Amino acid sequence: MTRVRFDTTDVDVGERESVLDALLRAGADVPYSCRSGVCQSCCLRAVEGTPPSAAQVGLPPTLVALGHFLACVAHPQDDLVCARPGALAGAVDATIRERESIAADVVRVRISPNIPFVVKPGQYVNLARTDGLVRSYSVANLADEDGYVELHVRVLEHGAMSRWIANDAVPGTPVSLRGPAGSCVYVPGSPHEPLLLAGSGTGLAPLLGIARDALRHAHRGPIHVMHGGRTEAALYGADALAQLARAHANVAVTRCVLEGPGSDDIVQGRLDHVIAARHADLSGWRVYLCGHPDLVRTLQQDAFLAGASLDAIHADAFLTRADAPVPTG
Ligand SMILES: Cc1cc2nc3c(=O)[nH]c(=O)nc-3n(C[C@H](O)[C@H](O)[C@H](O)COP(=O)(O)OP(=O)(O)OC[C@H]3O[C@@H](n4cnc5c(N)ncnc54)[C@H](O)[C@@H]3O)c2cc1C
Ligand code: FES
Repeated sequence: MTRVRFDTTDVDVGERESVLDALLRAGADVPYSCRSGVCQSCCLRAVEGTPPSAAQVGLPPTLVALGHFLACVAHPQDDLVCARPGALAGAVDATIRERESIAADVVRVRISPNIPFVVKPGQYVNLARTDGLVRSYSVANLADEDGYVELHVRVLEHGAMSRWIANDAVPGTPVSLRGPAGSCVYVPGSPHEPLLLAGSGTGLAPLLGIARDALRHAHRGPIHVMHGGRTEAALYGADALAQLARAHANVAVTRCVLEGPGSDDIVQGRLDHVIAARHADLSGWRVYLCGHPDLVRTLQQDAFLAGASLDAIHADAFLTRADAPVPTG
């Protein structure tokens, strides 16, 4: 049994419990979202004791060197005294610059970092409110060219951050950005490689970013963007996709809906089925998958079985608190 201290909380960590679960059980106020080691919102810093290296996977080496770790996947062997991540945890003060509703339940928010913030299109950032609420969002634009970071946020009925963004995050509101993280990025150097970019809902955000990045690197191979939604109303971004396809002969767009009749430019059917029908052989393809965790998992398996090599499949599942595994003690 190990013991963990954080702020005024001092608690034993059960054998199969994570540091996060133990601290929450004891009433500590630790931010978290996915509980799966993905979003990095539970990042803490060990000021005494050694955090398990398995809980540092995916963190930048500078943060690892300073003792940062992800509390939700930390099962320590030693006692730990923890603190909130330091200023060096890459948090950059920023300001909401623009906010616009772009579909019934999707808000586009543009954020100006107060100092240069390097992020590649398709990576995700951790957006933090001044009260410490943190959530991950994927970057939809070429932030280095645009000078701002564009996020597409699906507004959930009881979502703490997404509702706040939709209702309260007016231009001028201070926030901060941490990260970036994630490997869903365009890899220059193989300009003829075919690219499949597939996702559901706001999974379109990183896919748009990746497509734009590929095109500015003069990618000449086919770029197939496949966007799925429950209904036509969920298929936002039609204009942006049409514009890309009009301007670049190598870009093809397929949009599909689960419910509804379909139309000239919308296929009726499940995204995974539509992809399987059109891309039975993905050997030699680079595949990017983003959006709902169940769909991403299915598409990952399908892409591998269709011949895409594991290192050519990049995926970001948009895990929410609702997907978080139930804590074990
Ligand atoms: C790598 C990554 C990238 C992401 N990129 C994007 C993106 O580009 N765009 C985007 O829209 N989202 C993205 N997400 C999801 C995003 O981080 C948030 O999880 C999402 O916006 C919901 O946050 P929220 O605060 O609004 O909702 P929360 O308050 O976290 O709640 C989420 C949902 O879970 C329910 N819920 C809350 N707590 C519980 C609980 N304990 N048990 C059961 N249900 C619960 C709520 O009712 C709500 O429906 C990404 C996630 C990850 C991990
Ligand atoms: S990484 Fe720990 S809550 Fe997401």
